Amino acid sequence: MAKKKAEGYLSAKESRRISRENRRITNEFEKKRKRKNVPESEYLTEMHDPGNAVEFDNLHTYFFTDAGTVKSVDGVTFEVPIGKTVGVVGESGCGKSVTSLSLMQLLQRPQGQVVEGEIRLNMGDGKAYDVTKMPNEKLQELRGNYVSMIFQEPMTALNPVFRIGDQVSEVIALHNGEGKSKEEIAERSIALLKMVGIANSEGVYKMFPHELSGGMRQRVMIAMALACSPRIIIADEPTTALDVTIQAQVLDLLRNLKDKINSSIMFITHDLGVIAEMADYVVVMYAGRIVEKGLAEEIFAHPAHPYTIGLMASKPVVGKQVDKLYAIPGKVPNPINMPNYCYFKDRCEMCVAQCGGDYPHEVSLSATHKVSCYRYYDGKGEE
Ligand SMILES: Nc1ncnc2c1ncn2[C@@H]1O[C@H](COP(=O)(O)OP(=O)(O)OP(=O)(O)O)[C@@H](O)[C@H]1O
Ligand code: SF4
Ligand SMILES: [Mg+2]
Repeated sequence: MAKKKAEGYLSAKESRRISRENRRITNEFEKKRKRKNVPESEYLTEMHDPGNAVEFDNLHTYFFTDAGTVKSVDGVTFEVPIGKTVGVVGESGCGKSVTSLSLMQLLQRPQGQVVEGEIRLNMGDGKAYDVTKMPNEKLQELRGNYVSMIFQEPMTALNPVFRIGDQVSEVIALHNGEGKSKEEIAERSIALLKMVGIANSEGVYKMFPHELSGGMRQRVMIAMALACSPRIIIADEPTTALDVTIQAQVLDLLRNLKDKINSSIMFITHDLGVIAEMADYVVVMYAGRIVEKGLAEEIFAHPAHPYTIGLMASKPVVGKQVDKLYAIPGKVPNPINMPNYCYFKDRCEMCVAQCGGDYPHEVSLSATHKVSCYRYYDGKGEE
């Protein structure tokens, strides 16, 4: 009798079969993406609500790895209204960055692909594009101008061998440099550095990234992201690497600049305190899906999903004495082998009899507050 293999073990033969199959699938996606002269009609679409800057609709983003398919984002639907900040929260690995990278179409390719769903980007004047169907050449025009991203790690996102000024100027020259002389671009770069609160902006213009503190590097990243007044700013944990005082300054700065250029922010973090300070809307993700979403007030005053309740309980509160902070037991399920019941069930301390059934669908608690959990199935506006 054949020996029982350890869980997750793949034979060389099986691994080769998966690789071959992956190549076949990803080649097809890549062929589509690399086409030239794609007519606009192929990716032209309509916003469901013209008041939104971007709408994620049933987004599925998978990574086709040799160990199997990782369903990093598995049916995510939410919108970012114009001029508002949407906080996306969830623990490490739940798909926050992959959702934002899908919007920028900066996934690690060829293995990372959007396999289903739409991402509608409001271009203004009643026009909208579906980012998932756009060819590379067209997308390049939108990055920086319409959507830009402040990355998680300023030290890795900045190039260590180029001066700060050259890196900021490059963004302007690439996206907004037509008809501008070198001097004009340099002037604009220095003005941007000043705008993000760098006092010695002319000096910093000539420095290398390693000569700046973490907070200053993050400000440079923000300056680069805002260089072309984008409509949507994705801030992926922009303050994680900073100490609290600098964190507060950077958050203030982002809030003010957002109002100045009237853009929307998609703010990604696992810090609920930051969300409370920044967000108008909150989206809570768990294992590649949205488990709860709503207005920030709703989520903070009446968290409904056991995962959100757990997140709230694990946050220290000033003035509240506790012996030990709450920790959600267990860990996120293996992304290659997701169960077909509620993904949170194995960690949930509030299970009800139905929880072993299919993955729970979304239930409306109010016009804006939605939750995917069996505890709310009893007549509270099932969809
Ligand atoms: N290039 C890749 N290849 C394979 N899997 C990937 C890749 N990038 C991300 N993933 C997987 O996708 C899932 C979601 O990752 P993602 O980076 O979006 O998490 P996150 O929510 O941003 O976490 P964090 O808070 O740690 O930044 C994870 O399970 C991760 O392992
Ligand atoms: S559906 Fe059940 S297992 Fe899942 S979060 Fe709700 S109560 Fe917990
Ligand atoms: Mg991330």
